[in-house]
Amino acid sequence: MTPTPPGKPPMDEPKPHTEICPRCEEGFLITVQTPQDITIEGSLVRIPNVQVDECRACGFRSLSGREVGLFEILFAPQYARISDLILALQTAGYYGMFLREDRSETFIGFGSRDYVANLAEDLRMLYLDNESSHVIQGLGGFQTGSIPINLAGNHYTVKLPKIGEGENGIVYDYQEAPQAVLKLAKPRPYSRNHLKEEYEVTEFFEKQGVPVPRILLSDPYGSFMIKERLAGESLAKTYYSLGGPGSSAYRLVRESVQAFIDRLITLFDKNPEAKTSVSPNNIFVLLKGNDCQCLLVDTGPAPFHDYSGFNFEHYWETVIPQKIKQYAAAGYL
Ligand SMILES: Nc1ncnc2c1ncn2[C@@H]1O[C@H](COP(=O)(O)OP(=O)(O)OP(=O)(O)O)[C@@H](O)[C@H]1O
Ligand SMILES: [Mg+2]
Ligand SMILES: [Zn+2]
Repeated sequence: MTPTPPGKPPMDEPKPHTEICPRCEEGFLITVQTPQDITIEGSLVRIPNVQVDECRACGFRSLSGREVGLFEILFAPQYARISDLILALQTAGYYGMFLREDRSETFIGFGSRDYVANLAEDLRMLYLDNESSHVIQGLGGFQTGSIPINLAGNHYTVKLPKIGEGENGIVYDYQEAPQAVLKLAKPRPYSRNHLKEEYEVTEFFEKQGVPVPRILLSDPYGSFMIKERLAGESLAKTYYSLGGPGSSAYRLVRESVQAFIDRLITLFDKNPEAKTSVSPNNIFVLLKGNDCQCLLVDTGPAPFHDYSGFNFEHYWETVIPQKIKQYAAAGYL
């Protein structure tokens, strides 16, 4: 066997902070280049070499808002051939979407939703990707501290570091409400849609008596939401602190999680539209003495999950450690 050269990860290991596919939650996203067509004032313009995220496991594809910011590409000098497009964008009054760029960190934020509503469909998608990308990158520029941000006209002070991250969103505490959290969707339509659906199905879980955080505010485009802060910790964070099968906390949590997931899967059978990922990031565990309560922290649907052959033993022994490893590699934990 050839030894791995120093400084290079082995082939099958992802690069640090590679995103996990939001659709199948299995594959890592790779970046590929492809032409992209957008319609500006009725004419179709093809932009060459646009970077998109792709999952080799399930075929998911999405503009790489985080890496690129399509607008930066549009305005890059090497694309002289699309100068007409630039002109058209400016003439059409699309200046607003670049406002975020030259403002200072104190103005990180999401713009007016009326402005978004008035954008043409395909530009709206690009605008929203770009907007989220700037906010997430803006917050990512700081390790710790309190950063003022604007959510479509309202001021909040985000506390860093983030409290959690998944395939679709990043979650932060903020100063103004210690009992609430701010969740930002990752810059892609799939993830914004995930947040919109999360909002829609939360009530269903509440009615079924499944403990879930209430949603206190949600953006109509799915870019952000404010949710109740849950007590306890995610299974991904708690798992290795439980001790082994000999410990009573381990047995208590394992049994409670099993009962909770059994109940959820029964619910999904009858209500497929509520099917959610039971990843260890989505299940919260609240231990109080001899009592263990499980909560569903993320109700966002996962329509591509198949629970027909679900085996709890395998989930507990194999899937959870794999997921924790994957989350750590992606920088989520
Ligand atoms: N209401 C909350 N209270 C406390 N912590 C939270 C809350 N919501 C999210 N978190 C933290 O953030 C992490 C990621 O949140 P969440 O699962 O909602 O994101 P996601 O990107 O939608 O996940 P996925 O892609 O797995 O569905 C959670 O595992 C948890 O640690
Ligand atoms: Mg989640
Ligand atoms: Zn995938």
